[in-house]
Amino acid sequence: MRLRGKSALITGAARGIGKAFAEAYIKEGARVAIGDINLEAATRTADELGEGAYAVKLDVTDQDSIEAAVKTVDERTGGIDILINNAALFDAAPTMEISRASYEKLYAVNVFGTLFTLQAAARSMIARGKGGKIINMASQAGRRGEPLVAVYCSTKAAVISITQSTGLDLIKHKINVNAIAPGVVDGEHWDGVDALFAKYENRKPGEKKKLVGEAVPYGRMATPADLTGMAIFLASAEADYIVAQTYNVDGGNWMS
Ligand SMILES: NC(=O)c1ccc[n+]([C@@H]2O[C@H](COP(=O)([O-])OP(=O)(O)OC[C@H]3O[C@@H](n4cnc5c(N)ncnc54)[C@H](O)[C@@H]3O)[C@@H](O)[C@H]2O)c1
Repeated sequence: MRLRGKSALITGAARGIGKAFAEAYIKEGARVAIGDINLEAATRTADELGEGAYAVKLDVTDQDSIEAAVKTVDERTGGIDILINNAALFDAAPTMEISRASYEKLYAVNVFGTLFTLQAAARSMIARGKGGKIINMASQAGRRGEPLVAVYCSTKAAVISITQSTGLDLIKHKINVNAIAPGVVDGEHWDGVDALFAKYENRKPGEKKKLVGEAVPYGRMATPADLTGMAIFLASAEADYIVAQTYNVDGGNWMS
């Protein structure tokens, strides 16, 4: 029960990694707001996870929606202790085919959403004066570019940079900002990634997924549950002295 009595907001938690984080946090004693643009899915997830979870409508590209979600968490729980900036979109295209619409959509969710949800949560944490923990979801894609992935990779590099700058600034308020950089994590997200690679690399459905899994030094893709240990640790008091870092949880794909 390392998070006993803590109040967490997890963005994009209706499914995938965010949902696994919510489940793990509840087991550690936290109350978790399942913040997602898809309220129906968020409500289903909250119902599934039981008493410790509740759904909150949240579009991280919309400042009013961000403010309203943080206010809801504050009112329901007496103040936000932990934020996981988990919501993100993926897209892929050869450089010459990148569209402005794709660029704007990914930057709105992955970069604007991360920075301004962090800011809103931090404002609440500062007003309360008890500090807090903020975890941003980066990616191995933020460590190194990939030929078809200029936009997504650059948004995740931005997340790593935002983690560093805000982490250094906010630690004076006892707010620890850190990030997790997963490698390849199985789930609905990667089904979409696989379909894009099938199109642009002329592969059979499922082929890219199989290849990336086999290439992981650990020997397989991650499951969302492989990431929960780091997410619990970074939200716990054991991580009080950890500031502005990005941790690879990727089965050995990347070293830095
Ligand atoms: N799956 C992977 O292989 C992988 C690898 C590295 C990093 N990551 C990162 O981990 C995080 C979670 O990934 P996942 O695989 O669970 O993704 P996912 O696509 O399965 O889930 C994303 C969730 O975000 C929600 N969402 C989308 N736009 C939103 C918005 N504007 N406001 C609020 N919610 C919104 C979606 O409804 C969905 O529930 C992301 O930041 C992703 O970039 C994933």
